[in-house]
Amino acid sequence: MLKRTHTCGALNATKAGETVILNGWVDVRRDHGGLIFIDLRDRYGITQVVFEPDAGEPLMEAARELRSEFVIGVQGTVSRRLEGKTNPKLATGEIEVRATKLEVFNRCPTPPFEISATTSAEPNEELRLSYRFLDLRRPSMQSILLLRHRLAQLMRNTMSSLDFVEVETPMLGRSTPEGARDFLVPSRVHPSHFYALPQSPQLYKQILMVAGYDRYFQIARCFRDEDLRANRQPEFTQLDLEMSFVEFEDVLATMENLVQAIAKEFTGEALQLPLPRLEYHDSMERFGNDRPDLRYGMELKDLADLAAKTDFQVFKSALESNNRVRGLCAPGAAEKYSRKDLDALTESIKLFGAKGLVWLKVEAETLTGPTAKFFTPEIQAELRARFDAKTGDLILIVADTQSVSSQSLSTLRIRLASELKLYDPKAFHYSWIIKFPLLAWDAEENRWVAEHHPFTMPLPEDLHLLDTDPGKVRAQAYDLVINGEEAAGGTIRIHDSAIQSKVFSLLGLTSEQAEEKFGFLLSALKFGAPPHGGMAFGFDRLVMLYAGLDNIRECIAFPKTAKGADLMTGAPGTVDLRQLRELHIRTTEQ
Ligand code: AMO
Ligand code: AMP
Repeated sequence: MLKRTHTCGALNATKAGETVILNGWVDVRRDHGGLIFIDLRDRYGITQVVFEPDAGEPLMEAARELRSEFVIGVQGTVSRRLEGKTNPKLATGEIEVRATKLEVFNRCPTPPFEISATTSAEPNEELRLSYRFLDLRRPSMQSILLLRHRLAQLMRNTMSSLDFVEVETPMLGRSTPEGARDFLVPSRVHPSHFYALPQSPQLYKQILMVAGYDRYFQIARCFRDEDLRANRQPEFTQLDLEMSFVEFEDVLATMENLVQAIAKEFTGEALQLPLPRLEYHDSMERFGNDRPDLRYGMELKDLADLAAKTDFQVFKSALESNNRVRGLCAPGAAEKYSRKDLDALTESIKLFGAKGLVWLKVEAETLTGPTAKFFTPEIQAELRARFDAKTGDLILIVADTQSVSSQSLSTLRIRLASELKLYDPKAFHYSWIIKFPLLAWDAEENRWVAEHHPFTMPLPEDLHLLDTDPGKVRAQAYDLVINGEEAAGGTIRIHDSAIQSKVFSLLGLTSEQAEEKFGFLLSALKFGAPPHGGMAFGFDRLVMLYAGLDNIRECIAFPKTAKGADLMTGAPGTVDLRQLRELHIRTTEQ
């Protein structure tokens, strides 16, 4: 075998004259009559190889047979390229290798899409996922997975330097209380018993704190059987961590060091600490969601007082039902959005249940739009002032419930900011969202449910509300938001059994049910649990952000489709009846 002496990214003019061997894939072949050029590619780069008639007809004959993606070994001499033929874009662009020997390790049929970085066409995603081995060979995919590797290394090093210990926790465990549906694994040895794949290592890491490990981390795989979206996968990775003898401020301050190290490595930015913070309630008021993209303004404004002064039925009935009238003002959008575009915006929020969208174009003297007639000149002036609107702006108003108006306006805000190019897509903004509600009311089940998980500690100043107004209790919970993505989240945990019992009872869990679900954790917490808290970073989401991607599938080597399928392996697949019998399982198909 012609075994490589160098990689395809290693050679430069200092090696001129040396005899070398390269191994790799044929990126492209160019047949220039007498001369044949090959771009040879591996993970490290591309080197130009040239076959010249001087080398003899058998070698030329073999070179003529080469096609894209053939895997070869080439021996040759490193030579400086002729004046004017150098390629400053390539690390190896000053040289070429004049071939003297060729070995074809493997041939390759015409691939279903081009692998070479020289092609700009992005292949169809289904094809890419079915032929993932070819897709992952594409230089753009390799650079994403290499970035992923660098992030994992940086995290491991930084966490170790902060005294965190890496501990692995089981894949086959008991259901954890993260709130999604579990993936279950039947037990062969225990008929009708199931393991659950971990939704996160939550319970185990708390147990490690009880066991005295002080600071734990793990790059952990998590499994959640939930409806998939662009930024969610059923199987994903977290940087998971937990700390002992800490309060809220300690966790945030410690983890800001990691965020700072990540920012420096991947954007070169020297982050100013502490990072800005925003309370959940303010975030919902000002941006309509709890993960606001703060690279731009366009904040929501409450318009209830102005709405009350109009005779517009839509607004009046909203206020009568205790609903919200809120809006935003898109700078310079009036001319850019035609009637048809505005109808499309209106349709887009009907998905959330919005009944309509008031739009008003800000002109020099007046506001115009189909509903402008309902607003007297005085109210128009107040509206303008509320938004600090300028001629050419576009005001959008939604009257609806808190939830529908928030969803509608936050979605419009994100869409308009992107369409109006209100921010630099390469910029990064980091912030903490804090003081989340502890509980949410589940109308279907007619009970409180934990917003994060049942072990989350309330804010000390809200403890008294547990008895009187549980919906108002805020949690010692925090999310890290980067550019409108929830990049991480965590909480301080309850280590006081009286508070824990009270929270369980609010969640409608009797002590027997709590015992049945989390007995092992409750028992551990009784045996000397230190005050503790932690969080988890969405590792795939961080890769997505720093690689500038907008889809989480792009940064996972072997992802699932929106329907949870792996198109390359065909998972999920059927299994033999014998396997099912061993597991004591009968399906409805049998
Ligand atoms: P949480 O459920 O908020 O917290 O998850 C932490 C972070 O993981 C990422 N994430 C996901 N990424 C991809 N696909 C998914 N389906 C998915 N779900 C979540 C998000 C999120 O911020 N045990 C707690 C942490 C703790 O309290 O310490 C937990 O898992 O970026
Ligand atoms: P309608 O009274 O349904 O004919 O609506 C009059 C105008 O008000 C239309 O432009 C609707 O898009 C808009 N509209 C209707 N309901 C709402 C609402 N809940 N919030 C904002 N605008 C609305």
